[in-house]
Amino acid sequence: MSGNEVTLHDKTFSVFINAEEIKVLTQKVAAQIESDLAGECPIFIGVLNGAVFFVTDLLRELKMDCELGFIGVSSYDGMKSKGKVTLNLPLEGGISGRTVVLVEDIVDSGLTLQFLLENMDEAKPKALKTAALLYKPDAFKGNYKVDYIGKEIPNDFVVGYGLDYNGIGRNLKDIYKLKQTT
Ligand code: IMP
Repeated sequence: MSGNEVTLHDKTFSVFINAEEIKVLTQKVAAQIESDLAGECPIFIGVLNGAVFFVTDLLRELKMDCELGFIGVSSYDGMKSKGKVTLNLPLEGGISGRTVVLVEDIVDSGLTLQFLLENMDEAKPKALKTAALLYKPDAFKGNYKVDYIGKEIPNDFVVGYGLDYNGIGRNLKDIYKLKQTT
């Protein structure tokens, strides 16, 4: 096995996006947000657990005033999206009249963000925006547009930088993709 590969449970993954590129993508998303939301003090809400590294790195790239919160949902089971989203934690503090940016590690089917957008809209925010480091356009089934995207990727299963395979792999600094077996 080379240093560019990692084995998690029964699967082998190879490096796909390294830490340097993740930083560049994060800076790109930060620049999009700064230009689009200039003069605002948005509340960034990281979707747990996957977005934990991306949202904290993203905020450290931002030169604007902002607040940080987290919300918990679960929709993945192993390597397949269950298509059903459960809200695990109530969001503390109000979002009424505020500009909110929901931050995901990756948008796959898009059902997690769709569920959050529909539920949080009831709290009457001034604006509800979405940001994701990675976006899988071929898997997307949502009825909304992701506002700020780091990188579009093919419909492959990826791990690392917050993304897990059955609970492990989140602590990897690079992002790896499932190695195709021939
Ligand atoms: P969606 O609701 O299908 O868009 O999935 C959103 C969540 O599923 C993400 O926040 C991740 O936690 C998880 N997810 C989606 N694609 C992957 C992947 O390729 N690897 C690991 N987790 C993923």
